[in-house]
Amino acid sequence: MDLPPLTIDRSAGRPLGVQLADGIRGAAMAGSLRPGDRLPSTRSLAAELGVSRTVCATAYDQLLAEGWLAARPGSGTFVVGVPGALPNGPQPPFRATLTAPAVDGRAGGADTRAITLRAGLPCLDAIDRPMWRRAWRVAADAPIERSADLEGLPAFRAVVVEHLLRHRGLPVDPSRVLATAGSTAALAELAALLPAGSSIAVEDPGYAGGAAALRSAGHHLVGVPVDADGLVVDAIPAGMAAVVVTPAHQYPMGARLTAARRVELVERARRDGMLVIEDDYDGELRYDVAPLPLLAALAPDVVTHLGTASKMLTPGLGCGWLVAPPAVRADLVRHRRATGSRPAAAGQRVITALAANGDLGRHLRRLRRELSARRAEVVAAVRGAGRTPLGDAAGAHVVAEVDDERALIAAAAEQGVELDGLARHHLHPAGRQGLVIGYAGPTAGDLTTGLKVLSALL
Ligand SMILES: Cc1ncc(COP(=O)(O)O)c(C=O)c1O
Repeated sequence: MDLPPLTIDRSAGRPLGVQLADGIRGAAMAGSLRPGDRLPSTRSLAAELGVSRTVCATAYDQLLAEGWLAARPGSGTFVVGVPGALPNGPQPPFRATLTAPAVDGRAGGADTRAITLRAGLPCLDAIDRPMWRRAWRVAADAPIERSADLEGLPAFRAVVVEHLLRHRGLPVDPSRVLATAGSTAALAELAALLPAGSSIAVEDPGYAGGAAALRSAGHHLVGVPVDADGLVVDAIPAGMAAVVVTPAHQYPMGARLTAARRVELVERARRDGMLVIEDDYDGELRYDVAPLPLLAALAPDVVTHLGTASKMLTPGLGCGWLVAPPAVRADLVRHRRATGSRPAAAGQRVITALAANGDLGRHLRRLRRELSARRAEVVAAVRGAGRTPLGDAAGAHVVAEVDDERALIAAAAEQGVELDGLARHHLHPAGRQGLVIGYAGPTAGDLTTGLKVLSALL
């Protein structure tokens, strides 16, 4: 491993070994050396610093005695001290950091992971590893780009066009597509185009990450209620510069915006000059009826459509796309040019490779199969506990209304199951109580175990 810079001052009058020990200890305290980091051998460190090997050995011996380092015969000398800890004795190397109490005898000992049933996580179980490796290999073989592509790679934008047509029924010209770093990043970019201090209508409850991105751009957020038909369009106050909506599958309540409300929304947007941002975060994931046409198909003149690879693959790709009216798109590209921000090419290349050989289509079919089976399991558990599951047969979460979400979340945490409540999705605290049960994140086995704990608590 590379050591952080260590200075040895021969004119300082302090022994060189002491100086070296001070430097390594300081680096561990500051966090530039971390538990688990392997130090160079005394021989190579001596050569690097131009000191004798004895100086290095003295420093290492001192730190071994203080407990900052541990020697493992045959594999080297490692940092074990926790930054900020007092050097008062050896600490056990490589401690596990998370300990959760027992669930069905899983706890104690080695396996102390919490089971997470939080919403918004990708379903890594459904990602076929050979498929994933193939795509990265193809991506790695592409020529290294000389400069960043502000609009996104042409091949990726062509994949988006095909994806929108096949999976979302939206015919779109490639010239209207932009690659993004994901939907939340795209919201931040759109927010930067609006005059500072604009009022933006958001669903309440809604997506907290999106709200935070808009708020941090200095805008004023106005919560608009949602009901079983999605966003209550006639509750949007006058004077909004933009409205952010999840029409396919309202996040988190799970309703689909009705056709009548869609028409009402775009008429309102045209009349008031309001930008409509359609956050289609999980539009590929429907298990019953076909989705309604996108808002962007109904009103391409006022709707900016956001798509993301976060739910169908992983947010780790940092990759999404948008389709915007020409003036909005041109402003976004200008803003990227001026600020130097641009979408990274790696994720785009991976998605392009997945699409090119049909892997993406196969993956989506596998993912839908897996998630619809998991959804049925969650719905059965919620019903079995005498509660009503809310939301369409879509996406990767179910809402269950409960009386005291905080108490339930705390009780589940005691048993090693992490649950998500509706409270944190509300702009205004006095919202409905409920659990937002995500079923994509855990393994299938952990989901079953987590649901058992939940059922007992419900
Ligand atoms: C409604 C909604 N929109 C967008 C996102 C995130 O998308 P991205 O990862 O592309 O920023 C999420 C993720 O949880 C979400 O729930």
